[in-house]
Amino acid sequence: MNFEPYKIKVVEPIPITKREDRLKYIKEAHYNVFFLPSSVVTIDLLTDSGTSALSKYQLSAMILGDESYAGAESYYKFEEAVRKYTTKLQVIPVHQGRAGERIITISLLKKGDIVISNTLFDTTRANFEFGGAIIYDIPEEHDIESEYPFKGNIDLNKLEDLLKKHRDRVRFVVLTITNNSGGGQAVSIENVRETKFLCSKYGVKLLIDACRVSENSYLLKLRDKNYSNKSILEIVNETLSYADIITFSAKKDGLNHIGGFIALDDRELAEEFRSYLVLFEGFPTYGGMAGRDLEIISVGLFEGIDENYLSHRINQVKFLVESLCKINIPVMRPFGGHAIYVEAKRFLEHIDESEFPGQSLVVALYIEGGIRAVEVGKFMFKDARYNFVRLAIPRRVYTKSHLEYVVDIFNLIKEKRHKIKGMKIVKESRFLRHFRSYLEPVENWTNEL
Ligand code: F0G
Repeated sequence: MNFEPYKIKVVEPIPITKREDRLKYIKEAHYNVFFLPSSVVTIDLLTDSGTSALSKYQLSAMILGDESYAGAESYYKFEEAVRKYTTKLQVIPVHQGRAGERIITISLLKKGDIVISNTLFDTTRANFEFGGAIIYDIPEEHDIESEYPFKGNIDLNKLEDLLKKHRDRVRFVVLTITNNSGGGQAVSIENVRETKFLCSKYGVKLLIDACRVSENSYLLKLRDKNYSNKSILEIVNETLSYADIITFSAKKDGLNHIGGFIALDDRELAEEFRSYLVLFEGFPTYGGMAGRDLEIISVGLFEGIDENYLSHRINQVKFLVESLCKINIPVMRPFGGHAIYVEAKRFLEHIDESEFPGQSLVVALYIEGGIRAVEVGKFMFKDARYNFVRLAIPRRVYTKSHLEYVVDIFNLIKEKRHKIKGMKIVKESRFLRHFRSYLEPVENWTNEL
């Protein structure tokens, strides 16, 4: 069975645009797809974050939202749901993942501290750097096309070397699960366990950025024979039991449009976090969320571990990876949980890395098919190892024919890829430059495509 495990109850029309208009829209957006209004985007694969479709159970739970400032009933439901999901007792609601990252930054980091990770997500890195930390991203190194099942892992040898060398300055280690900026790849349970072991040995906390841990657990179930008979909740629980602190953006596996939490067992540290929570987010029984969002997430966390749902979702990613491989588009393998990653430098070999081949492909996808993807390469991170273009799949939103359309557009672009040239930045923004910078195509290639 590989059909959508849901019926469609409410529909949203998809904008269909003309090529000549798309040329105009992308120019008006300064060749940065973050400036495109969604009303001119046909298939929006910019992110899987906050873009899920809600279920009828979530919508009905929403009506139960208790909007009391203090002690809302919805909070206690949320707390119970998060405890069941994470195994942690202290639950701190925040309005989205990065709000939790900010609270952790302010509470725990000072200038010169070191944070080590399998790969931090862009906002996480930016927050920690803003707090003065020095970041070491040390993923295991694998060829992007190898089928190694756990490419999201942290390199344990490098981790131990760094812990030995900088023991006093390492503030915490972060495992991002799945490893979003590292190709959306799975992290193995041994890797989590060993990381925890090393953290304990050197007296350092382990933080898990867990926003896609349900998807990771499904991949573990598929790929680790010791886990093939376990339930997704058991795998989620075991993974998270190794964390001292969990940050979670509920815009992903929480199946809501907003929200998140920090969860931990350390009561004293939780109180410290709560004092900042009141300052930046809100009272501890709602954090940055409305009561209705607390309700929606309490349901969403468990819909997100349903195996029929996960199997269909991950098969969508697998379908795109396999279809693009068949037409020789270089993609990160094996399939991950939420997105596919095209290596744009290998696809557009003639474009120098300094001219952002990833961003060129993003622009070409929009012009050719109204598809919105995102560059995760040298434009996003100056020291990125690859020039990925990420196509993230929103949860429960698109059907197989939408994905087939994406493959068709790649086929068309492939035929004329030599016409695609580089991009240059003409106005650079201060933080997280990929969100707000302006670009231009080198030699006006967009008009010739
Ligand atoms: N951690 C990871 C691994 C993420 O992917 C994100 C967001 C965050 C933290 C921050 O959470 O958006 O709720 O503040 N990722 C989105 C993406 C934006 O497109 O991958 P947030």
